[in-house]
Amino acid sequence: MPRIAYVNGAYLPLADAAVHIEDRGYQFADGIYEVALFVGGRFWDLDGHLARWRRSLSELQIAEPMSERALRLVAARLVAMNRLRDCYIYMQATRGVAPRNHAFPIEGTRPSLVMTVKPLNLAKLNGVAARGIAVVTAPDIRWGRVDIKATALLPNVLAKEAAKQKGATEAWLVKGRTVTEGSSSNAWIVDEKGALITHPLANAILGGITRQTVIACAEALQMKVVERPFTVDEALRAREAFITSATNLVTPVISIDGMAIGAGAPGPTAMRLRQAYIDHCSAAG
Ligand code: PDD
Repeated sequence: MPRIAYVNGAYLPLADAAVHIEDRGYQFADGIYEVALFVGGRFWDLDGHLARWRRSLSELQIAEPMSERALRLVAARLVAMNRLRDCYIYMQATRGVAPRNHAFPIEGTRPSLVMTVKPLNLAKLNGVAARGIAVVTAPDIRWGRVDIKATALLPNVLAKEAAKQKGATEAWLVKGRTVTEGSSSNAWIVDEKGALITHPLANAILGGITRQTVIACAEALQMKVVERPFTVDEALRAREAFITSATNLVTPVISIDGMAIGAGAPGPTAMRLRQAYIDHCSAAG
């Protein structure tokens, strides 16, 4: 069965789903996106993802392509049509199609909306977490508004590829001496007293929805969370390190730039938080 995508009102086989070559997403990366999981019959953290979707659109002055209620219906229909048990759902909105010109197009240009799904193997993801991942550092060369989940991801793409070429799974982006976040995840460490440290919300990081839920899970487990910047040196001395994102949930980091973190194996705090996050999302209504 071919995979089905949603494009501007139509459900089409993925191979036939296309947007106009003058779509501003294609020409200017003038658009935003969200990635969420559908696992065990429910969307995980969808309220948070849709809240950030609206915020990103509003920050870029792109009109909402449809109401939140309609978006939820399209997402659910797409999952059902693809007959996938567990999947990633990707949604993207751009400012729409218009003759190329940097300034916004004249009023009346409709935003484009695209949604796709991709099979998800939670057992495989759990295997990655059980082994832990290697991270390398890379300079954070992104623009000043990465709090907006824009499709303009070239620095992230380059950093991820650099990590891959060094045999690592993720790149931690470094500004000055501070780790801002990963190329597609938020970065965390656990200090010698067991406190969880992650960069505070700012224009310099994407406010991860997983980050937000993991903070709530940590607090429910009486763990101390400190939202402050940390340096690469601190990370190298940390008891544990981990990343959070919709696609990785909570995944332990076992080395940074080839140097072992803690015992060089997934740490108990990260694994406990991963389970708490999975339990929370599996149970949330
Ligand atoms: N990325 N920081 C960056 C730069 C990201 O791209 C992401 C997510 C996150 C974590 O956000 P969340 O917890 O809401 O997934 C942080 C998605 C998964 C992606 O681009 O595929």
